[in-house]
Amino acid sequence: EMDMPRITVNGRATEVDADPATPLIYVLRNDLALNGPKLGCGRAQCGACTVLVDGHAARSCQVKLGDVAGAQQITTLEGLGTPEAPHALQAAFIAEQAAQCGYCTSGMIMQAAALLAERRSGLTEAQVAEALEHNLCRCGTQPRVVRAVMRASR
Ligand code: FES
Repeated sequence: EMDMPRITVNGRATEVDADPATPLIYVLRNDLALNGPKLGCGRAQCGACTVLVDGHAARSCQVKLGDVAGAQQITTLEGLGTPEAPHALQAAFIAEQAAQCGYCTSGMIMQAAALLAERRSGLTEAQVAEALEHNLCRCGTQPRVVRAVMRASR
């Protein structure tokens, strides 16, 4: 019998009864009931599945459970803030009404969280747009998303 992979998500360590080759997004959604990350393309193209691994944006459709078993800290939208105490980005997305259908929103916020963790002061709209260029939105919310990230960066 093999040891079950152990991962740390939103500060909580948990053993997962799944094959190490399982894409992380399935573990997050199906085993841990974290529905922030969305499955879009499943091919690293859309960004809907973006989470943080040790603070860096990662596409959870491409990360295997076995890749992040151990010491890595995984953060999903649910770990960023709470309804009572939202992260600055979550508050800013609401204030700017930066979601339309909302499917891309979690990935946008996580990608932006990685950006803000990296640099915050003096961020330009062009830099924000570039950082989110590979997070796709079919509703056309990008201008509002950029405004929300700028708001959160101040
Ligand atoms: Fe992972 Fe589209 S679902 S990038």
